[in-house]
Amino acid sequence: MQILSIASGKGGVGKSLVAANLSIALAKTGKKVVLVDLDLGGSNLHLILGNRIPEKGIGTFLNKPFTSIDEIIYETDYSNLLFIPGEAELPGAANISSAQKRKLIKKLLALEADYLVADLGAGTSFNTMDLFLLSGQGLIVTTPTLTATLNAYLFLKNAVFRIMSASFRKKSPAYEYLETLRKDGESLQKVFIPRLVENIKKIDPESYQKYADNIKGLQPRLILNMLEDPKDAAKASKLRHSCREYLGLNLDHLGVIYRDEMQTIALNSRLPIVSYKPNSVLSQAIFRIADKIIEHEDDISTRPLSFDESNTSFKIAELEAETDFNSKMQSLEELLDCGALNQGDLIDTIKSQQFELNMLRRENRFYKNSFLKNNKK
Ligand SMILES: Nc1ncnc2c1ncn2[C@@H]1O[C@H](COP(=O)(O)OP(=O)(O)O)[C@@H](O)[C@H]1O
Ligand SMILES: [Mg+2]
Repeated sequence: MQILSIASGKGGVGKSLVAANLSIALAKTGKKVVLVDLDLGGSNLHLILGNRIPEKGIGTFLNKPFTSIDEIIYETDYSNLLFIPGEAELPGAANISSAQKRKLIKKLLALEADYLVADLGAGTSFNTMDLFLLSGQGLIVTTPTLTATLNAYLFLKNAVFRIMSASFRKKSPAYEYLETLRKDGESLQKVFIPRLVENIKKIDPESYQKYADNIKGLQPRLILNMLEDPKDAAKASKLRHSCREYLGLNLDHLGVIYRDEMQTIALNSRLPIVSYKPNSVLSQAIFRIADKIIEHEDDISTRPLSFDESNTSFKIAELEAETDFNSKMQSLEELLDCGALNQGDLIDTIKSQQFELNMLRRENRFYKNSFLKNNKK
């Protein structure tokens, strides 16, 4: 079974749209497909598929002992396509425990299908990253806007760190080295990965080798969505360039999808667009991507982490760059260096950073006030 995990750094870029429609496109060619909604905080795949609101989903499976996975697999209106819904209404499902995650992964990997398509939540949380790394050739979706490409880049940077720390045995020199850097959060964010890897090679060749073997398994594939203009397509090669130069990663390109007004009409009709308007630009792009995936399905399917490694708990969660302002600045410099930014992008970024700064200030004030209040009591 091939796993197509679909991730993004930022929400609203079209992951779920791609997951649902790509699954139908693959199923139409006769492949057996299971689509699973793993956006456990914001499940909405059933809406896109046009399925009724499911009674039980991943939430029930995780929280009610003795629920078998078969109880949450549903038939769809499409032959060859089965669906596992997420259950958004269950609070806290986004923060599943490591034992729950292990149970889920084990059952998912044991499913019988040609493709398991997993729609993930946005961002780089520990669980999302592990689910993404179930496949070495996960799909990363982004739009051409600066914030989205930057977040896609940060997502991949986190994936590299995740693989790195999972490759080092506890107490090994490489592990200790990474720990020292981690303690000084700032130097970790500033780190230039190719140089870090060089240093590790020098101080701990054994750990380096393990990392080098594992990272080979990471060959993410990009989908650039919601293009408005042919010029937008260039964003893909810039992102690819940044990944190669700064992360030592080879990013494949699965294709571009233009923004298509038909999608709004499809949404209102409660039908997935590949079924509602198979001839639309959007549907054609999805069919093309499905063909490419099938074409390459015989290439060795890689997995950067073994099941065991992906379950070992590391403090890597603290590396989450998503909320880390420093890291954004750093990556921005990296993108600037390689010419991935134009002036409009810069203005867009500065605006969004000012917004984040204000949010941080507001939070700070809030914490300060509650601190003072508590102290008075
Ligand atoms: N190529 C596209 N053309 C038009 N609308 C799109 C396109 N891709 C996504 N959308 C719309 O953008 C919104 C966000 O998409 P969604 O798949 O829910 O994003 P995500 O799952 O990444 O949060 C949805 O309303 C969807 O219909
Ligand atoms: Mg979604």
